[in-house]
Amino acid sequence: MSEKRYQVPAAISEGVGYTIVENASLEGRNTFRVPARADLLIDVRRPEALAELFGYAALKTRPLLVLGEGSNILFTRDWPGVVLSIAALGITVVEEGSHNVRVRVGAGENWNNFVHWSLARGYSGLENLVLIPGTIGAAPIQNIGAYGVEVREFITSVEAWDRDSSRLTTLSNADCRFGYRDSVFKHQRDRFIITAVDFELPKWRPLQMDYAGVREELAALGMDSPTPSGVAEAIARIRTRKLPNPALIGNAGSFFKNPMVEASKVSELRKRYPQLPAWEAGEGQFKLSAAWMIESCGFKGLKQEHAAVSEQHALVLVNLGQATGSQIWALAEHVRDGVQERFEVLLEPEPLVL
Ligand code: EPU
Repeated sequence: MSEKRYQVPAAISEGVGYTIVENASLEGRNTFRVPARADLLIDVRRPEALAELFGYAALKTRPLLVLGEGSNILFTRDWPGVVLSIAALGITVVEEGSHNVRVRVGAGENWNNFVHWSLARGYSGLENLVLIPGTIGAAPIQNIGAYGVEVREFITSVEAWDRDSSRLTTLSNADCRFGYRDSVFKHQRDRFIITAVDFELPKWRPLQMDYAGVREELAALGMDSPTPSGVAEAIARIRTRKLPNPALIGNAGSFFKNPMVEASKVSELRKRYPQLPAWEAGEGQFKLSAAWMIESCGFKGLKQEHAAVSEQHALVLVNLGQATGSQIWALAEHVRDGVQERFEVLLEPEPLVL
């Protein structure tokens, strides 16, 4: 990896609605900011260009990776194939009713910009999802969620290029099979390339302020009767305090999912760890706090080579500046193994690890 790192791109070519770069650096394309290269990097500005691109042999035969802003990925090696970045932009109001609005958003739009766009126009629902890094196209893949709200509540459909049928297709909310940090797009990564997402946003809905710390933050801001924008402001302040900013220190948010376990496992663990946080997650399942388990293993702030467990939040791994993806992955394995040994619970990575 390091040898190729300093090579200049061999060639850049343009087509209608896309740009291709050979031997492209991905270092600026992943929020961990680890070095990696792709044989071909294609920025697609018009979804219609996909029909032409998938006619080329390279896209039919080479390994394919679809990348948004790279905020949920860890490269431990170069990508020996094609990286597609969907840069399709645009926010279009499709239909405005008295109670809600339907909006279509290009996959390349920045998620946080869309949240602010919606709040500025008086639409609500997305306030708890403020400041989540990444693109619109990435949001449905991991069903982004924060502070008691998940994006699946607002997605009506997803437009994607279907590599099986070689055409643009529309997946309904049910077709997306959303779950906690999960969707059909995680299970059929090579099949769908998301080009746009359709949302239905209410003009008013009860604010979700029950997540720990939100009401306290609103009170500290002096907001007695908060608006959606007020809730967004409170949550942005909590996130800024709790989570390292990827613009300042390379990271991909939560590195592990919160594990789901049976009630019997919670009771067994609570005999040894009475403070263990656990939340009912439906269907007899309980969600454990991965951050709490990592911290109780003593890993919070742990440094290994150029990687570290964030001092701010135990669920976040950070690049101290010069880390390679392999160093970050070695630290992740160390954390996962330590938690497994102590709690007999296997942590699963949340980002895609390559
Ligand atoms: N905690 C610790 N040590 C820490 C941090 C947290 O022990 O260093 C414990 C505390 O008991 C705390 C509990 O963990 O009460 C929960 O912490 P937090 O509210 O930060 O939530 P989380 O479960 O760790 C999840 C999401 C975050 C999201 C927050 C808020 C996952 C994998 N992560 O974290 O999402 O912002 O809830 O809703 O579900 C992301 O996906 O990248 C992400 C940041």
